[in-house]
Amino acid sequence: MSQYPSAAPGQTTFKLNTGAEIPVVGLGTWQSPADEVAKAVESALKSGYRHIDAAWIYGQEDAVGEGIKASGVPRSELFITTKVWCTYHRNPEACLDDSLKRLGLNYVDLLLIHWPVPLEKRGNENIPLNPDGSRAIDRDWTPEQTWELMEKLPATGKTKAIGVSNWSIPYLEKLLARAKIVPAANQVELHPSLPQHELVKYCQSKGIQMQAYSPLGSSGGPVLQDELVQSIAKAHNANPAQVVISWAAQRGVVVLPKSVTPSRIETNGKLITLSNEEMLQLNELHKQEGKAVRLVKPNWGVDLGW
Ligand code: A2P
Repeated sequence: MSQYPSAAPGQTTFKLNTGAEIPVVGLGTWQSPADEVAKAVESALKSGYRHIDAAWIYGQEDAVGEGIKASGVPRSELFITTKVWCTYHRNPEACLDDSLKRLGLNYVDLLLIHWPVPLEKRGNENIPLNPDGSRAIDRDWTPEQTWELMEKLPATGKTKAIGVSNWSIPYLEKLLARAKIVPAANQVELHPSLPQHELVKYCQSKGIQMQAYSPLGSSGGPVLQDELVQSIAKAHNANPAQVVISWAAQRGVVVLPKSVTPSRIETNGKLITLSNEEMLQLNELHKQEGKAVRLVKPNWGVDLGW
C-alpha cells in the first residue's frame, strides 16, 4: 500500500516550503465557463476536494467565489490559489486585491505569477498588442522585479504563499539568484505527453512544489485516448483520467484537472495506486513517435526557455 489509497482528495496533501499542507488534487477552472464554474466548484467541494485553482485572467473568479460559498465548507479547510496577470507585473498587489474582491475572500493560500512575461498596462486591455499584432511586452521590467514585489505580499496577510507559473529552469535560475523567498510552487502544463522530467527534478531539489495544469491534455482530454493509458485503466477497473492524475500525484506533483461535469469531478478526485512498472511505462510514453506534445504555447514573442 503506498501513501495514495483512494482517499478523498482533501485528505491527501503535500507540504509546501512554507510548512503549509496543499491538497494533492485541486479543481482546475481554466476554460470553465462562467455560468458553469460555480456549480463545478460547489460539487467538487461537496465531494471532498479542498483545493481550487483560479486565476484573475479566467474572468470568472466571482462565480468561483459563489461556488465556494454555496459549498458551506469553512474557509480554514480550503486551499485557494489565484494568479497575477501579465499586465499587473508592476503591481501584483492590485491584481490580488481585485481577485480577493471577486472571490469574496480575505486571503488566498497561494498567489502565482501567471507567466514570466510582463505586458504593458493599457487601460482594461488584458493582452495589449503592438501595431504589428505582436504582444506589447513591457521591455523595461523583468520577472525578477515582479518577484521582489511578490515577496512583500505574504506580510500583508492577503496571501499565505507565493509562487510562479510557466517558469522554465533558466527562468527559475535567474529568479533564485536574487530571491529572498524561494517560490512555494511552479505550475506548468504537465501530462504523459509532456512529463517535464527535468523540471520536476529541478524543482524538487529546490523545494519548489510542482503543479500540473492541463493534466488530461486540456480540452477534450486527448491523453485519455492513449492505448497505454486505457489499458492501465482497464487493469485497475478505473478510468483513464484517474490513471493520468494518479501518475502525476505519485511523482510528487500537485494535479489540477479541470472539469465542469460533477461525475467526472468526483472520479478525478479518487486516486489509484500504480505499480512501478506502470509508472515507468507512463514516464516513457512521450518517447513514442508523435506522442510528445506541448498544447499550451501562447505566442508571447519571448523565449521562455522551454
Ligand atoms: P468537462 O469539463 O466538460 O468535464 P485538463 O484538465 O487537462 O485541462 O482537461 C480538461 C478537459 O478534460 C475538459 O474538456 C474536461 O471536460 C475533460 N475531462 C475532465 N475530466 C474528465 C474525465 N474524467 N474523463 C474524460 N474527460 C474529462
